[in-house]
Amino acid sequence: MVKRLWVVTLFPEYFKPLQEAGIVRRIFQGDKKYIDLHLINPRDFTTDNYQSVDDYVYGGGAGMLMRADILARAIDEGIIEAGEVSREKLHIIAPGPRGRVWNNQLAREVAERYQVDEEKEYVWICGRYEGIDERFLENYVDEHLSLGDFILSGGEIATLAMLDSFARFLPGVLGHAEGADQESFEDGLLEGPQYTRPPEFQGKTVPEVLTQGHHKKIEAYHLESRVELTKKHRPDLWEKYQLTQRPKKTNRRKK
Ligand SMILES: C[S@@+](CC[C@H](N)C(=O)[O-])C[C@H]1O[C@@H](n2cnc3c(N)ncnc32)[C@H](O)[C@@H]1O
Repeated sequence: MVKRLWVVTLFPEYFKPLQEAGIVRRIFQGDKKYIDLHLINPRDFTTDNYQSVDDYVYGGGAGMLMRADILARAIDEGIIEAGEVSREKLHIIAPGPRGRVWNNQLAREVAERYQVDEEKEYVWICGRYEGIDERFLENYVDEHLSLGDFILSGGEIATLAMLDSFARFLPGVLGHAEGADQESFEDGLLEGPQYTRPPEFQGKTVPEVLTQGHHKKIEAYHLESRVELTKKHRPDLWEKYQLTQRPKKTNRRKK
């Protein structure tokens, strides 16, 4: 089902490559189209000659803030009125440091919600400058999502990363061979090392087991190498994985 998805951004040009390059472009066009992307520029909803969308911070904080009234107009006039959709049918997301931290599980969750809430249209609000006036966040935003514990100069890159990674979970976007369920994180481990031609590269050969066609042995090799790689590169993931593998204690009383 094709649904509208809105992004409020001062820099719509960030979203062109996502729609034109790579595997995820499929969700914006052709028979796998899921998303009818609408880019709304807050500058189109300004009232002064300078088209200003930001202003000084009350109390003397550093930098400038995006104005609540301009962003509100972008939603009320640019989406609700122009798109003929009610406020209740919008789910407004603000990427920012205070949000739940994005990961694969959250990407899957958003993809599921996106499909289940057939009526809901998702809106991403990209902040710039020192962020957004709190009153807009209070009155309009339904969910805060963070890309991680670092500061970006704008919400566009966070929105792009979120769109790209949640779109991979929409059915049919990835072919069977590229399946999201075979990627790192899906069961708590990283994907293992993989090889393609040539069979020998700078003196290194492909592990023999992968060239012999013995499926059981290949499966065992894959699990073992995933464990090794996870232990080595992401000991934090390995620790969590081990906890999920422990047999659960039962609360059966002794007779
Ligand atoms: C320079 S940041 C504002 C940071 C804010 N002054 C603070 O200290 O929390 C401008 C915008 O970038 C986006 N942004 C910054 N860091 C982000 C993160 N970790 N995840 C998602 N978006 C982020 C948000 O849209 C934010 O409004």
